[in-house]
This record gives sequence, structure tokens and C-alpha cells, in this order.
Amino acid sequence: MVNGRENWASKIGFVLAAAGSAVGLGNIWRFPYVTGEHGGAAFLIIYLIAIVLIGYPVMVTEISLGRSTQKNPVGAFKALAPNTSWWLVGALGVLTGFVILSYYSVIAGWSLAFMVNSLGGFPQGIEAAEELFMGHITGVGTPILYHAIFMVLTAGIIAAGVVKGIQRAVQFLMPILAILLVLVVLRSLTLEGAGEGLAFLFAPDFGAVTGNTFLSAVGQAFFTLSLGMGAILTYGSYLSNKDEIPGSAAQIIGFDTGLAIVAGLAIFPAFFALIGTEEVAMESVGLVFITLPAVFAEMPMGTIFGFLFFLLLSIAALTSAISLLEVVVAYVIDEHHWPRTMAAVVVGAIIFVVGIPPILGYSTWDGFSFAGMDILDTYDFFADSIFLPLGGVLTSIFAGHVWGTRNVIEEANRGNVSFRVGYWISPLLKYVIPLGVFVVMVFGVLEALGIIG
Ligand code: PFF
Repeated sequence: MVNGRENWASKIGFVLAAAGSAVGLGNIWRFPYVTGEHGGAAFLIIYLIAIVLIGYPVMVTEISLGRSTQKNPVGAFKALAPNTSWWLVGALGVLTGFVILSYYSVIAGWSLAFMVNSLGGFPQGIEAAEELFMGHITGVGTPILYHAIFMVLTAGIIAAGVVKGIQRAVQFLMPILAILLVLVVLRSLTLEGAGEGLAFLFAPDFGAVTGNTFLSAVGQAFFTLSLGMGAILTYGSYLSNKDEIPGSAAQIIGFDTGLAIVAGLAIFPAFFALIGTEEVAMESVGLVFITLPAVFAEMPMGTIFGFLFFLLLSIAALTSAISLLEVVVAYVIDEHHWPRTMAAVVVGAIIFVVGIPPILGYSTWDGFSFAGMDILDTYDFFADSIFLPLGGVLTSIFAGHVWGTRNVIEEANRGNVSFRVGYWISPLLKYVIPLGVFVVMVFGVLEALGIIG
């Protein structure tokens, strides 16, 4: 322990927890439909570039900020830049955690519901699958109930603490997830007509690229790696000086990116084999929830696979949700001295309430529209296209110009490292990320809101 703060019980504890945070609905639910929306392979390429140029330096920075201060996001900025306004960057992160978890839990709730429904077998045919999904999300009581169950699970793990709660849960859950996903990929790839899906994912068509494609790729990179809001910073704060940062960051990113591609391999071949592009919009939040049940209905032992898949999706969501909640909880524990259990319960309850409007957006409040988006999409748009990139830009500026890249690199290379972070991240943090992400953000948002063409 450093300063009496709880530390991960082993090196693999941190890597698994951070990978658990990274791998989630972002990989399995969000990555496929955003990729679908932006034309497949071309999006994938831009996204991979963003992962390397933005994801790695920002991840190393966040972990280093956390470990060197041993604090939550607000406390970390306060410790390194006392009597300045930089703590507001941490506060933005706490707010972002709030917003993301509120709708994240709603989608995780859909997954729990589908896990339960799968036991009765999924209906045959794509129309039936679509009806099942629409029927579920346009309900009120059932989605709220599953959203509540998911928040209780999340808050329960957080209340149990870092090692006993977070670490124990992810060490058990992550390996199961990887194995299950591979099984689903094998089924999807062996369906007749699967090749078209592979072409979509790997043969780029740059004609579909617009300004908004870049913002979506950058936003997805932050979202999927849990960057830009201090989640990885918070997990880094439970890291000891013996643990290594450069290799851990590379492992987490490799794992997360690999899993997104595997999720694409599970979904696109099946989508093209069973649906084709005409009948169901590929860019919808329902992509995973409609395509895969249709696959499961067609395969031998589909009931078991269906159940396992939605179990897996729920598990992936849970190991991410705990990191979202931990940001807010660590903040109220450190800065306002709340006991952990009270923090988990009260914050969890408030987030549950904030998550109700996105549910009602599909029924009672379906008249709501913000630039053509329903309530859930609006929450997601603010989080992913504004809050996370903005948090990432400000964190980079802080690292590059206030704390100093020399300090970032020194902190990152402390301990038993398998390789050292080089000075190449310095110009990225100082200039490329702040300017690049900012420009992409401004143009992307203006385009998404229909202000520029
Ligand atoms: N990375 C998670 C996912 O891909 O589902 C979502 C997430 C978790 C985003 C934690 C941000 C965060 F701080």
C-alpha cells in the first residue's frame, strides 16, 4: 500500500481490471454498428490509427497521472497543479462517468433481458428478431427493471472494494468472455455467405468517409479504451511503483483492439449471410441484438450459444461499468470522505435515475429528438463526441505543457519495465493530440448537428 491506499494484489490484477474496463459494450455493441454506419473497413483503418497515435500516449499518461498521485481524477490534477483550475478536467471526467454509466446500464440491461429470453429459444427469421428487440426496448417496466438489476450488481462490486470486488470479479470473468466470443465467431464464419461480411470489414471504401467519420473514430477510440474521463487514471492510482506501465498499456490496448475485431468477425459475416443490407439498418443500436439472435435461431444448440453470448455481453458490460462507477465513487471517497459502501449505493441510485429518460425515449418520450437522435443516442453523442475527446485533449495539454512530458515519461518508465516509453509520445501529447482531436471534434460536431454540410 502507498499512503494507505488499496493496491492491486498482483501485476496481472491491474492489467485484467483495465482490460476489463476497456473491453465492454464499446467493443461488442458499439464498435460493430458505428463501423457499419461509417462504411466498414475505411472506418476501421482510421480507428486503428487513432488507437496508436492517440490511445497509447493518452493511456500511458492517464496511468502515470494516477500512479504518481495515488488519487482520483479531481485529486490528481489538484495534487500536480495546486491552486489552478486544472481540477476541472477531473471534474469533467466524473461528470462523464455519470452520463456514460446511466445509458450504459440501460444497454447492459437489454443484454441481461436477452440472456433470460434466450432460454426460451430465439424466434426464427429476421423480422421476428427485430420485433423481439423493438418489443423489448419500447417497453417501460421491464427495461427499467433490468437497468436496476444491472446497477445493483455494479454498485455491489464497487462496494466490496478494489481487490475483493473489482479484481476478483474480472479475474474470473475475463477469460470466460474470450472463449465464448471465439465460439460465436466460428459459427458466424461458417454460415453460407459469410464472405461478404469479411469484405465489408476488411476491404476499405473511402467514399463513405466524411468529417464525422473521423470524429466517430476518435470518439470510439476514447470510448473503447476507457480514456478521456479518468477511469484508467483511477485504476492507475491503485498501482504500486513496482508495476510496469509501458507494457501494461500495450497489453490492454492489444487486447481491446483484438476483441473489437473479433466482435466484428462475429457480427458482420452473420449479418450479411442472414440479412443483407436492405432489411435492417446496419447503423442501429439494435445491430447486435437483432443480428445475433437470428443467428442463434438458425444454429444447432442455438439456445445455449444465445444464452452464453448474452451472458458474455453482460459480463463484459459489468467489468466496464464498475470502472465507470469507480471514478465517481473514488472521487467522493477521496475528496468528500464518504465511506465506500455509502458512496457506491448513493451514486449508483442517482445514476439509475439519470438512466430512466433514455429508456422512456423509446416509448413515452419518443417525440424527443435532438438533431435527429433519440434520448439514448443523444446521451451517447455528448459523451462520446464531446466529453471524452475534450477530456482527452485537456489531459494531453496538461501532460504536455503543465506537468511536462519528461515527468510523464519518467513516471511511466519507473519500476521493472519490459520496454521503455520513448520521447516519441512527447510531440503527440504536446501538439498532435490537442490540435488534431480538437479540429476533428469541432468539425465533426458541427457536421453531426447539421450546421455544416
Ligand atoms: N471501454 C468501455 C467499453 O468499451 O465498453 C466503456 C467505458 C468504460 C468508457 C469506462 C469509458 C470508461 F471510463
